Amino acid sequence: MKFSHFLTAAVSAFGLVRSGCSQIVSHKPSEGAGISYSINVPQNTSTSGSGPIYLQMKAPPGIKWFALGQGSQMTDGNMFIVYSESERNITLSTRRASGHVEPLYDSSIEAYLLDGSGVDDGVMTANIRCDNCTTLAGGGNALSNSSSWMWAMTHGPPLMSSNVSETLYQHDWHGTFTVDLSQAVGSNHSNPFFVPVSDLLKFPQYINQQQVSDTILHKKRIAHGVMTSVAFVLLFPNFALLLYYVPSRRTVPWVHAPLQMFAVLLALAGFGVGVSVSKDLQEIGGYHPVIGYVAVGGVVFIQPVLGIMQHLHFRRTGTSSLYGISHRYLGRFFAALGIINGGVGFHYAAAKNPDIPPASPIAYGIICGSMFVIYVAVILWRRSKSQPKTPNRFGLAFFRRRPNKQVLVKYDNSSDSTLCVQPSSDVEASREKAWLP
Ligand code: HEM
Ligand SMILES: *[C@@H]1O[C@H](CO)[C@@H](O)[C@H](O)[C@H]1NC(C)=O
Ligand SMILES: *[C@@H]1O[C@H](CO)[C@@H](O)[C@H](O)[C@H]1NC(C)=O
Ligand SMILES: *[C@@H]1O[C@H](CO)[C@@H](O)[C@H](O)[C@H]1NC(C)=O
Ligand SMILES: *[C@@H]1O[C@H](CO)[C@@H](O)[C@H](O)[C@H]1NC(C)=O
Ligand SMILES: *[C@@H]1O[C@H](CO)[C@@H](O)[C@H](O)[C@H]1NC(C)=O
Ligand SMILES: *[C@@H]1O[C@H](CO)[C@@H](O)[C@H](O)[C@H]1NC(C)=O
Repeated sequence: MKFSHFLTAAVSAFGLVRSGCSQIVSHKPSEGAGISYSINVPQNTSTSGSGPIYLQMKAPPGIKWFALGQGSQMTDGNMFIVYSESERNITLSTRRASGHVEPLYDSSIEAYLLDGSGVDDGVMTANIRCDNCTTLAGGGNALSNSSSWMWAMTHGPPLMSSNVSETLYQHDWHGTFTVDLSQAVGSNHSNPFFVPVSDLLKFPQYINQQQVSDTILHKKRIAHGVMTSVAFVLLFPNFALLLYYVPSRRTVPWVHAPLQMFAVLLALAGFGVGVSVSKDLQEIGGYHPVIGYVAVGGVVFIQPVLGIMQHLHFRRTGTSSLYGISHRYLGRFFAALGIINGGVGFHYAAAKNPDIPPASPIAYGIICGSMFVIYVAVILWRRSKSQPKTPNRFGLAFFRRRPNKQVLVKYDNSSDSTLCVQPSSDVEASREKAWLP
């Protein structure tokens, strides 16, 4: 018989624990590889609103470290992280998170390991008494009938460390759960988990829970960033520039529109993954998501409609219209908005995830800057080519007012766009040619 079992038997034989049943609320996340968390609130603590509470954390073999935290956000309350210290003993590292960085050891959290804690057959058990766990960092009641907790764990070999500040890398799985702690109130035991099982009144329950695989979350983050950046930084601008590279009346219906629709689908898919990421992080607000809704909404709902309207107008009249003008400037605007939002996204992600390589926002900035220079250069190049009579100076050509109104409304309809201004006689001539079979 193991010493602990012997002790338990002895204690119960002397009737020391018969003063009342321990009421325990426990939660075993289905994705947690068998880890479980239990909570007991002594009657006295419940009535007086302060005092000790008891926690039990249990992990099967194969878990490197696991954690329980109060509240639904990293910064909400105390965190208890448990890993092996030796073959038989465990380390309890009490931590607090300030902001979105790795939580740091905090010795002011009055939490202690009780009897029954240790490693037995590879199973880690931590019986914890916490003396100031009744309120959350924000002052809220931590022991309500809708009390939020979070958990995290990482697979791996035993950590074997007594260092309470051990660096813990990203976890594999994490989650939150909410329990009714009024069901956990009972008994005045000084170690409620160290009693015979028959004296435990267990309530395995939760009101709601969320579980997130960090491995999948990591992939989703990368997919979101790549898909939206490729669409906004590379595809939208370049597919718009195709109207300048290939000025033909077939460019819009055969090249620009289908390719832009592909880019729209890519942006939409990246957006969907982003929504899923923000759900996983339980973070819906913020500038990045809101700007994202506007930019994606614009390219999905507004641009195709304006583009098609302009194309139909062009086929009837061979001229531009307000549809074309607004499509052009809104297109540039939405693409720019999406690109800027990518930068905001890096800022947003770095706050939650310090392991983003610093080179990636820099690379993003360089690519965006180059794209901007290319965009402006191509427009200037095409303008200077289509207006041979004016001095071929970029700055001049770009900012110069058009010489007369007639030219402004007559366009080179070798391209279905307002982009390349030509003398009106040329326009008439080229339109005739363009509509010949
Ligand atoms: C069915 C989809 C689309 C059609 C039929 C279409 C059609 C057109 C047409 C006719 C023009 C010439 C407008 C003018 O200058 O008067 C144009 C230009 C342009 N389109 Fe689209 N388009 C489509 C989708 C998109 C999308 C989704 C974007 C996303 C940003 C976009 C961005 C642009 C831009 C930026 C220009 C102007 C290029 C410039 O001068 O900078 N288009 N498109
Ligand atoms: C209950 O709380 C009171 C006051 O906080 C304390 O004096 C008493 O010893 C406590 N009883 C138990 C059983 O912990
Ligand atoms: C385990 O912890 C106890 C109490 O802290 C200590 O007395 C004992 O030596 C430790 N055992 C090992 C193997 O570290
Ligand atoms: C716990 O209580 C002690 C004193 O009672 C206090 O110094 C410490 O800040 C508290 N810790 C937390 C995390 O509330
Ligand atoms: C939880 O407590 C609040 C007040 O503290 C009460 O209004 C509510 O009905 C309780 N809910 C349950 C399910 O007990
Ligand atoms: C504990 O781990 C931290 C982080 O790895 C390290 O900085 C510190 O020196 C370690 N302390 C001891 C006593 O080993
Ligand atoms: C716990 O202690 C309090 C105060 O000492 C007492 O009123 C209550 O009946 C005790 N509860 C149990 C289950 O023994």
